[in-house]
Amino acid sequence: MRLTETADVWWKNAVVYCLDVETFFDTDGDGRGDLRGVSQRIDHLAELGVTCLWLMPFYPTPDRDDGYDITDFYGVDSRLGTHGDLVELITLARDRGMRVIADLVVNHTSDKHPWFQSARSSRQSPYRDWYVWRDEPPPDGDKGIVFPDQETSLWEYDEKAGQYYLHRFYKHQPDLDITNPEVRDEIMRVIGFWLRLGLSGFRVDAVPFLIDPSGSLDATELPDPHDYLRDLRAFLSRRSGEAMLLGEVNLSYKETRSFFGDEDGDELTMSFDFIGMQKLYLSLARNDPAEVTKALRERPDPPEEAQWGTFVRNHDELTLDKLTDEERQEVFDAFGPEESMQLYGRGLRRRLPPMLGNDPARLKMVYSLLFSMPGTPVLFYGEEIGMGENLAVEGRNAVRTPMQWTADANGGFSVAEPTDLTAPLPDGDYSPEHVNVASQRRDPDSLMSWIKLLAQRYRECPELSWGECTVLEHESPSVFAHRSDCEGGTIVAVHNFAAEPARATLAIAGAGVGVRAVDLLCDGTEDIGPDGTFELDLEPYGCRWLRVIRPGDRYIV
Ligand code: NOJ
Repeated sequence: MRLTETADVWWKNAVVYCLDVETFFDTDGDGRGDLRGVSQRIDHLAELGVTCLWLMPFYPTPDRDDGYDITDFYGVDSRLGTHGDLVELITLARDRGMRVIADLVVNHTSDKHPWFQSARSSRQSPYRDWYVWRDEPPPDGDKGIVFPDQETSLWEYDEKAGQYYLHRFYKHQPDLDITNPEVRDEIMRVIGFWLRLGLSGFRVDAVPFLIDPSGSLDATELPDPHDYLRDLRAFLSRRSGEAMLLGEVNLSYKETRSFFGDEDGDELTMSFDFIGMQKLYLSLARNDPAEVTKALRERPDPPEEAQWGTFVRNHDELTLDKLTDEERQEVFDAFGPEESMQLYGRGLRRRLPPMLGNDPARLKMVYSLLFSMPGTPVLFYGEEIGMGENLAVEGRNAVRTPMQWTADANGGFSVAEPTDLTAPLPDGDYSPEHVNVASQRRDPDSLMSWIKLLAQRYRECPELSWGECTVLEHESPSVFAHRSDCEGGTIVAVHNFAAEPARATLAIAGAGVGVRAVDLLCDGTEDIGPDGTFELDLEPYGCRWLRVIRPGDRYIV
């Protein structure tokens, strides 16, 4: 890794921040956030150390799935702003050293999309074959339903069309047929369009469904789905050398690895680490890092220039679908015992702080882990200040409440009447009075100050994202310790999962005489013995990041 590569391959050590324009900052007083609002708050993101802004769907939508149901892939929803506002935002972000990516949701459209309206109107419609139709739903049509509380089949009969259409998600989201070359061409045009407007890539929605052609053809004639992903990536890279694809693939590690493509990584540039995230919650529930260790050991290395996107929470339910029933129950018992907190029997519609009883040390430990584990950390808006969920809001929207800027009315999000907000703010301990940006930016001990520090140190330590990671063996069961090495540099990160203090004796193989380990998060130096060992005392839920300094090293620490 050359230092310049960390700029060219920028996603490999980015700090990604996901936000929904609708709930971030409202400038026109209609109770809904807007693109101008994101622009006005760009310096908050810059201060935090964000280097890549991921915008959730801002396209025209009937809003039956929070914008993931789109009626125009080339448009900007007029309630959020205009193309002009978006270009201004991208320009401002660039000035602050931030790239902007957006959701690419092309597995399906809204049923209100003019393509679908035309398709259903007649078998002769030029758009009929853009969707997947059947006279009869296949016998396994109720397998793999994503929203089991709302849907009973993947196939819906459309009176007007006189046929059933495929929808992997809600019935108002008919799937496009990506085996149709016209659909493929159109998706390329959509990508090309937004790249021209200045986006640096996409978070690709529902990748396994998007590339799965099985709904449309005979099982014997199926093309290799990965060919399509390779085509998309090749097109993207031809149009923009700096653009990337961050894919939503919630499958086993082995399957997810295949979405990065060959050795050189010719498919997705990044993929979320859903398994690592789920195992983290299991470890937290047990106060024992063993499952995190196991997951990290099992996680395949991405190709050299690809990366895992690591995260603690996102805009959806905290899915626990890859845990066993017993393991999932353990996490439910620890972090979401009430039925109102659970969703689809497989996840939790909660944010992290209420799950951890708002314990500051434990929260800080989890984010320290997020930033120090190999990968690119992806934050969801509000995590930096420890926002809570509002369980009074339906379904997944419980975690999509407005950003809390100040202790003022509506958390400073909007001057509209509270009843006009897109989603109501939480009451109680997590209300804007208690949790807001304004108070935390003044407080050196706040979660926000901590996340700023982590982001800064993470960017200064390319070892963490580019390096080779090794889990360190030691005797303390509640402590997770790992080292990352790159180009002669070594970072050691140590995390205590228990509510009790812990002591770990760590061995740094390859250390010589006169080697020290200097704390990067607070003041402190540990002398490493000539045998390469040193002892570390950790507070309850304590965490340390140490840079190993060998004689002659010239780091600023
Ligand atoms: C995955 C998104 O994360 C989710 O929010 C959405 O409902 C579905 N894809 C359908 O687009």
